[in-house]
Amino acid sequence: MKITIVQGSPRTGSNSSKVAVFLASELERKFGASITMVDVQKINAPNYGSNTNFDQEEEVARHFGDADGLLFVVPEYNGRVPGAFKNLTDYYRSEFKKKPMATCTVSAGPFGGLNALHDLRSWMLYVEGVVSPTKLLVSGAGKLFDQDNTPGDAHFNINYPVFLEDFIWLTEKLT
Ligand SMILES: Cc1cc2nc3c(=O)[nH]c(=O)nc-3n(C[C@H](O)[C@H](O)[C@H](O)COP(=O)(O)O)c2cc1C
Repeated sequence: MKITIVQGSPRTGSNSSKVAVFLASELERKFGASITMVDVQKINAPNYGSNTNFDQEEEVARHFGDADGLLFVVPEYNGRVPGAFKNLTDYYRSEFKKKPMATCTVSAGPFGGLNALHDLRSWMLYVEGVVSPTKLLVSGAGKLFDQDNTPGDAHFNINYPVFLEDFIWLTEKLT
């Protein structure tokens, strides 16, 4: 099963990136998934419509289009998804139609990026993705992992396995 993870933070050393890497390793370990990471921080797409060449445009299209399912790990910036993430997704549309999608939102604060979750799911419905019923809200993201990159938060450790299982369940149904 081919899963593309979209890491939606443009920040160097972001907490969303750490969560994305952890979920990637769990998908490989528990489900034998083949993971591709589309990282907004590394891809650095030019502003859509600025007539600046986006060298990786076709490569990213393949990462979206070829995937059996898309897992989005996205931080909340000012109550919405980051502009850099929205800018990247604006290059694509048909790749998202009928694609299984899962939503993980990340916040350093206590509310797990709930506003970004609603923003993200609204966009997913618009582009006609099929949204997994189970969400993963990550609160206190700056303190989630210990030195060995093991998550120490009881809430996260209860929720992330169910989140991944339900995403894989949906993806298998639609593949
Ligand atoms: C521009 C900006 C806006 C932010 N706005 C919010 C916000 O609205 N709500 C929130 O809970 N955290 C907000 N944060 C903090 C993020 O939750 C925090 O940076 C967290 O680590 C996830 O983002 P990251 O993946 O970029 O690290 C904001 C951070 C930045 C850089």
